Amino acid sequence: MIQLDRRHFIASLGGAAAVKLMSSEAKAEALEAYMMAQLNTQPKKFPKAAEIEAQIETRDYRRGVGNLFLTTQPNGKVKKLEPMPPKPTFLDFFNLRMQQTSNHVLQSANRAMKTGMPEEIILACLLHDTVHALIKVDHGYWGAQLYGPYVPEKLAFAIRYHQALRFYEDKEAGYEYPDLYRNLFGEDYVPAPHIQADYKMLKNHKWYMEPRLVTVNDLYAFEPGVVVKIDPFIDIIGRHFKNPKEGLGNDGSPVAHMWRAMAMPDNPL
Ligand SMILES: [Fe+2]
Ligand SMILES: [Fe+2]
Repeated sequence: MIQLDRRHFIASLGGAAAVKLMSSEAKAEALEAYMMAQLNTQPKKFPKAAEIEAQIETRDYRRGVGNLFLTTQPNGKVKKLEPMPPKPTFLDFFNLRMQQTSNHVLQSANRAMKTGMPEEIILACLLHDTVHALIKVDHGYWGAQLYGPYVPEKLAFAIRYHQALRFYEDKEAGYEYPDLYRNLFGEDYVPAPHIQADYKMLKNHKWYMEPRLVTVNDLYAFEPGVVVKIDPFIDIIGRHFKNPKEGLGNDGSPVAHMWRAMAMPDNPL
């Protein structure tokens, strides 16, 4: 809760005499603006990693589970899913199974497009978190595996390693460590050994900027109320995503079962 310093507030408006001349609406508006400005200067409070760990046993699910397999609404129930078409494409999965992340990834891809990034980066941004439908924990690695057979190697590389690079600043590239991560993992969180090792490898890798640019666009992609449509990306998907003719999940690829698991998450076995 922010403490209002009355004297400071009045002084900021030009003193008591100036305040007297203001309408009540103008005063209310000024107060709101003042409170917003204060909010931005207040020191932020983040949880410690130990506090995050202590929350585990307060939940009836684990945080790494895929979006399709639970609802986190208190007393919520999962919904019946729309059936998939017989030969589903990426767009079918995007529209029918990946709705929970679609707004976020569309905003990411939109930022990449608006800032003139290459098509492969735009598509990497569009795909980067969509595997959350299946599983969230270690999602960069799962995501790269899910898309690996259908996209260029560099694009899967960008998806795989955006997860590791999210933990490491690169101010020169325009990426600062996000408050979101301080809240999700705790302010004193130390990344897992595989993330540290991959970061060390990435620093000198010729493709470093591929996953880095995904993180750069990721940072700004949580604007509430901003809705981006898939339409501007359809051609880019068409140029870089090879949908198998049998449909994703029916193509006998090493990851076909991952697509089937998203197609039918209600199957008990
Ligand atoms: Fe991510
Ligand atoms: Fe993301």
